[in-house]
Amino acid sequence: MNKLKLTSDFDSTADFILYEGDIKELLKNVPDNFTKLVVTSPPYNIGKTYEKKLHIKDYLDEQKKVIQECVRVCHPEGSICWQVGNYVDNGEIIPLDVLLYPIFSSLKLHMRNRIVWHFGHGLHASKRFSGRYEVILWFTKSKNYTFNLDEVRVPQKYPNKKHFKGPQKGQFSGNPLGKNPSDVWEIPNVKSNHIEKTVHPCQFPIELIERLVLSLTNKGDWVLDPFMGVGSTAIAALLHRRRVMGAEIVPEYNKITRERLELAESGHLKIRPMERSVYDPNSPNKNIPPKTIKIYSFSEQLDFLEKSQLNFFENPNKGGI
Ligand SMILES: C[S@@+](CC[C@H](N)C(=O)[O-])C[C@H]1O[C@@H](n2cnc3c(N)ncnc32)[C@H](O)[C@@H]1O
Repeated sequence: MNKLKLTSDFDSTADFILYEGDIKELLKNVPDNFTKLVVTSPPYNIGKTYEKKLHIKDYLDEQKKVIQECVRVCHPEGSICWQVGNYVDNGEIIPLDVLLYPIFSSLKLHMRNRIVWHFGHGLHASKRFSGRYEVILWFTKSKNYTFNLDEVRVPQKYPNKKHFKGPQKGQFSGNPLGKNPSDVWEIPNVKSNHIEKTVHPCQFPIELIERLVLSLTNKGDWVLDPFMGVGSTAIAALLHRRRVMGAEIVPEYNKITRERLELAESGHLKIRPMERSVYDPNSPNKNIPPKTIKIYSFSEQLDFLEKSQLNFFENPNKGGI
């Protein structure tokens, strides 16, 4: 079995590039138009353990430097997804997407959705309503972009609904593959009892990134997360046969990323399945249990594909891929 090829600096033959330092350094070595998807949750400048709180103008200048480089390395048919919440100053909230949007539009990106990510857990506010959503700003680099909607359809609310008149009377009215998941996503955030929880205070649920990886990239494409944290984007990308790169400045988080990767490679990492609906106290037994995943190196997948294709051409009745 081939081990996953993990490198610590840019290498176009790697499965996973984990740069243990400032993202601006890694980006210097990445060629133009290289990666199909950039997806990240940047530091929010709210004084988390891993960040120094900057004046908001300096914070935006720093973000602009990284975003400009992300646009340069993004493939012409690629996407950039920036997941953010609120900056809080003296009890007042300032939505970061509002501040960041002008940077993206000045770089001539095309905005496709402002996805609202709704979740159930968080701080209980006493002087305002408790915050229960963040957003994902999705931009494409051009008008011709990868979007695989069928990969991420969700079950219809009324799957048996039929046309009641007209030439299609009696036929099912909804798409049999399911419906468009819309721009409001209800996905639990990673809090203490979530199966994916590590010490990181704000890690992505893997299923959130799976949806973006599946819809905005194809197998073999590159995914970049400039602020990698504990490697959630990497797990989502590798699980679906993409390659991935990113940077993280905190050594402890990089250690956890490596541990999660080893667990996934040996087939022991547990994640919350995409198909699982949010907890419903009225039907607690309906929950799908966590699933255990295994990831493979890209070259191993190619071997597998070549062998099954060969098998198919030598003996078509046996079936292939
Ligand atoms: C919001 S967290 C991302 C968490 C990540 N989505 C996950 O699932 O674990 C932002 C991360 O960016 C890291 N970071 C901050 N500045 C950085 C820089 N200049 N280069 C690389 N990483 C940085 C922080 O240490 C932090 O872990």
